[in-house]
Amino acid sequence: MSLQLLQKKDLFRQEAFWGGAWGKGNPDLKIEVVNPATLDIIGTVPSLGRKETLEAVQTSLLAFQDWSARPAKERSILIRTWSDLMKKNREDLALLMTLEQGKPLIESRAEIDYSASFLEWFAEEGKRVYGDIIPSHRRDTKIEVIKEPVGVCGILTPWNFPSSMITRKAGAALSAGCTVIGKPSELTPFSALALAALALEAGIPEGVFQVLTGYPEEIANTLIDSSEVKKISFTGSTRVGKLIMERSAKTLKRLSLELGGNAPFLVFDDADLEAAVKGAILSKFRNAGQTCVCANRFLVQKGIYNDFVSLFSESALKLKVGNGLEKDITIGPLISEVAVQKVEGHIRDAIDKGGKLQLGGKRSELGKLFFSPTVISEISEDSLSMNEEVFGPVAPIYRFESMEDGLRIANATPSGLASYAYTQDYRKMRIVAENIQAGMLGINEGLISTEQAPFGGLKESGFGREGSKYGIQEYLNVKYVCVGGFQ
Ligand code: SIN
Repeated sequence: MSLQLLQKKDLFRQEAFWGGAWGKGNPDLKIEVVNPATLDIIGTVPSLGRKETLEAVQTSLLAFQDWSARPAKERSILIRTWSDLMKKNREDLALLMTLEQGKPLIESRAEIDYSASFLEWFAEEGKRVYGDIIPSHRRDTKIEVIKEPVGVCGILTPWNFPSSMITRKAGAALSAGCTVIGKPSELTPFSALALAALALEAGIPEGVFQVLTGYPEEIANTLIDSSEVKKISFTGSTRVGKLIMERSAKTLKRLSLELGGNAPFLVFDDADLEAAVKGAILSKFRNAGQTCVCANRFLVQKGIYNDFVSLFSESALKLKVGNGLEKDITIGPLISEVAVQKVEGHIRDAIDKGGKLQLGGKRSELGKLFFSPTVISEISEDSLSMNEEVFGPVAPIYRFESMEDGLRIANATPSGLASYAYTQDYRKMRIVAENIQAGMLGINEGLISTEQAPFGGLKESGFGREGSKYGIQEYLNVKYVCVGGFQ
């Protein structure tokens, strides 16, 4: 059993962490966590609910008094130590991630580095939360602006990036002086619980970072309904993001919503073909296509279309599907049967509407959740995969005529998370940058995520920014102080 490979055995926790201790809640209520590659049960976690969530909120509230009062540098040292411990335990954390999520080990290691980088980044940023002194409108007053942590934060995170989506939120929140209650996906809780164990080892006080495991609805609703919880940050589907926003109206809670995407990947006639294909493969097949920012639709101009389709299909054929723990694997299993069925539905629909299957199109023989990299050319504009997030290793390739045509189709979606464009013409780069309706754009680059840059969307892909100097502002209140009596 691969868990035996863990060097630090206590990183594998089958208990949640709240109320100042590890615990199981009701021992009869637990969730089995399945390895999507083998369909074996890795272990169980408690299925917690309203009672435990309310306890966590009280603990968080109490911890906030001390944590928010500490000098930023003191918080910074602890958060930085947490990041260092992640790096030290990189192999174990990557192993746990591959076991529960399925992504190849090489990608899990990269995610652990990415995840630790947010803690490191925000440990620094927390020390630079400056206020302002504003020239006053009167002789006898002074105007000051101070920044204060918002308070207790609930962070609701998905299964596709089980570690980095937590630290991208928690790093910012904790360095701002907030306390955090994390609720990871019930499909991938072990990465979150290992993070909690390392936070404690780093010396972060018990109530400052708690992790509740369970099904989302009861825990999330309790957090949202609580007037003690001041902020919710969510990464997940647009459908659930809208429900959270609606429910948050009752307490007018601050929100950050990082929701679904439908990223266009534009390739213009003048693009460097090899660079475009390399970027396209990286963007499309990272995490088997289960990424909010991955290229969802390829929009390729007519002059380069045939060459792009054949080189892209040739490159996709070289990808190796299999259990992420095995050597040289580049595509792991999809997360669930539902995910596979969605992909199959998109492929059927594309072909029914005139699409030509160039590669793949079916489950691999390796097992139920493994899906072959799939390329479909001559896709029609009304195909499902052009209009919805595929979240799988399927690349629909659409042919467009003019730049206006390409941009029109790129923007013809309610989503606006990531986008990509390949061209060697600086004028076109500027036109795309100014007209694309997305929060992020990669020009001649297929992998854009980094802790230094603001991650977030427009339109129905949500709002709020994560990472970068902007990320910490999401966890701060601005307070204006007018001091009078100076005559
Ligand atoms: C996501 O899929 O939401 C996260 C991807 C990333 O941070 O690159």
